[in-house]
Amino acid sequence: MTEIAIIGCGFVADLYMRSFARFPHVTLRAAYDRDTARRDAFCAHWNIAPADSLEALLSDLPAAGLVLNLTNPGSHYAINMACLEAGHHVYSEKPLAIAMEEAQAITALARSQGLQVASAPCSVLSEAAQTMGKALRDGVAGTPRLIYAELDDGFIPQAPFESWHSESGAPWPAQDEFEVGCTLEHAGYYLSWLIAWFGPVKTVVAAAAEVLPDKSPSGRGTPDFSCATLFFHDGPVVRLTCSIVAPHDHQIRVIGDKGVLRLTKAWDNSAPVRFYRRLRIRRRLLESPLGRRMRLAGPRQPKMGRWGAASMNFALGPVEMLEAIAQNRPCRLGGDFALHLNEVTLAIQNAGSDTGAQDMTTTCTVMEPMPWAR
Ligand SMILES: NC(=O)c1ccc[n+]([C@@H]2O[C@H](COP(=O)([O-])OP(=O)(O)OC[C@H]3O[C@@H](n4cnc5c(N)ncnc54)[C@H](O)[C@@H]3O)[C@@H](O)[C@H]2O)c1
Repeated sequence: MTEIAIIGCGFVADLYMRSFARFPHVTLRAAYDRDTARRDAFCAHWNIAPADSLEALLSDLPAAGLVLNLTNPGSHYAINMACLEAGHHVYSEKPLAIAMEEAQAITALARSQGLQVASAPCSVLSEAAQTMGKALRDGVAGTPRLIYAELDDGFIPQAPFESWHSESGAPWPAQDEFEVGCTLEHAGYYLSWLIAWFGPVKTVVAAAAEVLPDKSPSGRGTPDFSCATLFFHDGPVVRLTCSIVAPHDHQIRVIGDKGVLRLTKAWDNSAPVRFYRRLRIRRRLLESPLGRRMRLAGPRQPKMGRWGAASMNFALGPVEMLEAIAQNRPCRLGGDFALHLNEVTLAIQNAGSDTGAQDMTTTCTVMEPMPWAR
């Protein structure tokens, strides 16, 4: 089974299509969007069959097919449930759902139907994340003690986003992005890596605030800044920051007993990972200014072109899911992993100024590395 269908033909759908060009064995069967003009523009651009309705798309797909849910977060729950109820596996854009009870219902339905559900982001399957994971397993930096992970995007409300359009002409959905908020939209880019490497988070101590209250025309306030301290059951303490306010900074630094592992571009699948050894020179202590590049022995993933802010292959997740289904094993991004990621993300997003410590109720295992990164 290598055929998949798409629901939601907006900005990100074009990024998926460009990414699928690297996997010619995968065919896109049909696409649907409730905005028919958008659906038609997308389908014409990519030469995909347009589906007349959600029901038509789901009933035309052979049983236990794979549907990509690329709709806006507010639609994720209803569409994920509809795909599962129709007997299909579903790969959802992030977040799996915007309420934890909804995410629980989705994973429970998938389990009871013998179907798989997984959620983006999939950059944890990239060479960059897998290289850092291998360096951690190999103890390159010694025992990791503390991690600083930053997902600051710059002062986005002043960016010229009116001119940001995808390949088939979808505008960047500024209002939806502002209303959903940068934590729900972006925390997963590093949370997924951290949970993959260290397993489940035990406790989240976070704060979230809206520091730019007038940016959305609807005036619906959502945090545009969050800062979380994460305590893992078995891992270092992590500080994770998200904002669309502070200057662009996407670096992650793992501080260990021997030095610092660092990567500066969360959204670049081939971002270099470097190790900066800690040195005592006379009366000074410093990290070497010359980082040693970490490399995997296995074959390299094809380098992606750059689209706006990112050089990510969005197809890595769906392709992993197709392989998992074919091999009758759980998808690395699925089930308990997706649910735990959702719980931690929501805990940060909804922390406000006085929530205090939140103990997580879900759990998962450390993610199996990709075979080429073992
Ligand atoms: N914009 C990006 O750069 C980007 C990058 C990575 C991930 N994402 C994620 O991708 C998802 C979609 O974002 P986007 O930027 O493509 O948004 P978008 O608004 O450009 O596109 C979403 C499309 O889904 C359609 N849609 C919404 N609800 C629907 C429903 N119930 N039935 C059918 N169609 C429906 C909309 O009409 C719209 O065309 C979000 O979860 C977002 O977090 C976006």
